[in-house]
Amino acid sequence: MTSTTQLFLLEGRTAIVTGATGLLGREHCRALAEAGARVVATDLDAAACDHLAAEIGAGAFGHRADVTIPESLEILLAAVLSITGRVDVLVNNAALNDRYEDPSTALESSRFERYPLELWEQALKVNVTGVFLCSQVIGTHMAEVGRGSIVNIASTYGVVAPDQSLYLDPEGRRRFYKSPSYPTSKGAVLAFTRFLAAYWGASGVRVNALSPGGVENGQDDFFVAEYGRRTPLGRMAAPTDYRGALVFLASEASAYMTGANLIVDGGFTAW
Ligand SMILES: NC(=O)c1ccc[n+]([C@@H]2O[C@H](COP(=O)([O-])OP(=O)(O)OC[C@H]3O[C@@H](n4cnc5c(N)ncnc54)[C@H](O)[C@@H]3O)[C@@H](O)[C@H]2O)c1
Repeated sequence: MTSTTQLFLLEGRTAIVTGATGLLGREHCRALAEAGARVVATDLDAAACDHLAAEIGAGAFGHRADVTIPESLEILLAAVLSITGRVDVLVNNAALNDRYEDPSTALESSRFERYPLELWEQALKVNVTGVFLCSQVIGTHMAEVGRGSIVNIASTYGVVAPDQSLYLDPEGRRRFYKSPSYPTSKGAVLAFTRFLAAYWGASGVRVNALSPGGVENGQDDFFVAEYGRRTPLGRMAAPTDYRGALVFLASEASAYMTGANLIVDGGFTAW
């Protein structure tokens, strides 16, 4: 019988991570590689993918792909199969999240009543259609072979609504509103996860979601403290906080799990 520790190992497996060169994508790649997987780091910038793959080592390689373009994903799959001959894990991590860098326009453009259709459509295209397309192109290969694990990265905001009082400054003035498109897209990812898990249950492909909470990444001290106050564990996440959960979902350690949403949020959604 396989030992408990061995259940988490990914030796001999190939794992594709989309949005690989972003804040969390890098950590997903590192975690999978440390568990023994050969990692394919894919994102929009080819040089950044190659650079990350070289940093990771362990046979990792980079390949540019746009998750919204089916042909781009077909080229990615063909390249991966020609190099490794297999795909065992797909981490659908690429996403857009509105960032309001310009404080002078942030408040008006983020207000729901004025939220631009273009931003809504862009977010749904990458965050929902991207997950659909990657699963269709890469997951279909997995289903044909009869094995695989798909991990869709959702968010606490797919589970609960954004608390808009988080986005006030220390004087109580509003900086911006969290957008309607991001939570909507993540809610759709959760519904799609359940759909595909049920659809491919008999094909040997498991499909689960991982819902991270907010990650500390250069936000000001006031925001970080306010987020921590709303979180039972009292802090924002570090980018490394999702490594264990990701390897669990990617590996045989979660063999009897599909259609689930693993929430790793320091308790943010618990109260
Ligand atoms: N950072 C957080 O606080 C947080 C919290 C909860 C959930 N998440 C989720 O975790 C995942 C990663 O978040 P992050 O903070 O690392 O984001 P990030 O913005 O740092 O990285 C996202 C990556 O996706 C890539 N991408 C965007 N459009 C693409 C496309 N069309 N094709 C291919 N790649 C594309 C970007 O180039 C970028 O590298 C996302 O799904 C996000 O919603 C993040």
